[in-house]
Amino acid sequence: MKVVSFINYKGGVGKSTTAYHIGCALALDQGMNILLVDVDPQTNLTFLCATPERWEDFKKKNGTLESLYRAYLDNKPFDIKNIVWQEPIEKAGMKVVKGLNLIPSDVELLGIDLDLQTKTSPSNDLSSVADHYVKQRTILRDKLNFIRDEYDYILIDCPPNLYLVTQNALAASDCYVVTALPDHLSTIGLSILEKRVRKLNKDLKNAAEIASRDVSTPELGGIIFVRVRLGGTAIINVHDRKMREVSGIYTNKTFDNYTTEGIGYSEAAENALPVFLLGGSNPKRVAYQYREIANEFIRRIPS
Ligand SMILES: Nc1ncnc2c1ncn2[C@@H]1O[C@H](COP(=O)(O)OP(=O)(O)OP(=O)(O)O)[C@@H](O)[C@H]1O
Ligand SMILES: [Mg+2]
Repeated sequence: MKVVSFINYKGGVGKSTTAYHIGCALALDQGMNILLVDVDPQTNLTFLCATPERWEDFKKKNGTLESLYRAYLDNKPFDIKNIVWQEPIEKAGMKVVKGLNLIPSDVELLGIDLDLQTKTSPSNDLSSVADHYVKQRTILRDKLNFIRDEYDYILIDCPPNLYLVTQNALAASDCYVVTALPDHLSTIGLSILEKRVRKLNKDLKNAAEIASRDVSTPELGGIIFVRVRLGGTAIINVHDRKMREVSGIYTNKTFDNYTTEGIGYSEAAENALPVFLLGGSNPKRVAYQYREIANEFIRRIPS
């Protein structure tokens, strides 16, 4: 069983699309049990899985990830099973992705991140401060521990930042996958991101040692390129060159498979279905790419 976070502090680089389609491919093709966790207040992963109307219904009855953090802030007990949405992906009222569950997000999570940041340690002595530092970052991990054995993979879709909710995702993860466009600014961002995660890992480990607590920190699991354009023009040469450059630096970490700029994703989002379950030649082409990525994913990060 593995917990994997999809991160990049850069926005619009395919984190949600990739987490969603890898999760769906593994459930559909491999019969795996998958839990998707949407920790982004933008709720994109949530709405890739279900319509806003069905989400409203679920939220009213069960709550969302926001409820989990609210309970922590209010010192209340919380059963994570309440917010696990069983097989939320539906077509004409039928459940169509068996084995795939979702912890949905909520725009209110934006407020939670701020509330977490302003919550301070109850005392100023070093070990209390360290203990508080660890607690604030292991809220999600401690709850996921109750259900992790039910799954082959838990895939966490992070917002484009590294604030506390994302740090909670990282502290719950065995590894993290970075999705990126193969352009100049995105590739500069990769090394900054890797250094930043290394620093977060180090700070968490130091605090855990002082507070005599157990933590594990995630390793880089891979880099997946998305929206690649290959062919004959200047921009395309840049994409090709940047992918080679990154593969040279992150040897063994850069996925061989990538997605090209494709048509079908917006239709998939509108229907709250993965591209695998749409008809037509365009969705079929992009479906093939994510199937290959999903196969490489389980080879590189075995469950
Ligand atoms: N291969 C592709 N071809 C065309 N469009 C794509 C492709 N991959 C993703 N997209 C589109 O790009 C947009 C951004 O993708 P996505 O939402 O997955 O990025 P993100 O990194 O999760 O963004 P954010 O940081 O805002 O959460 C979406 O509209 C998505 O449908
Ligand atoms: Mg996203």
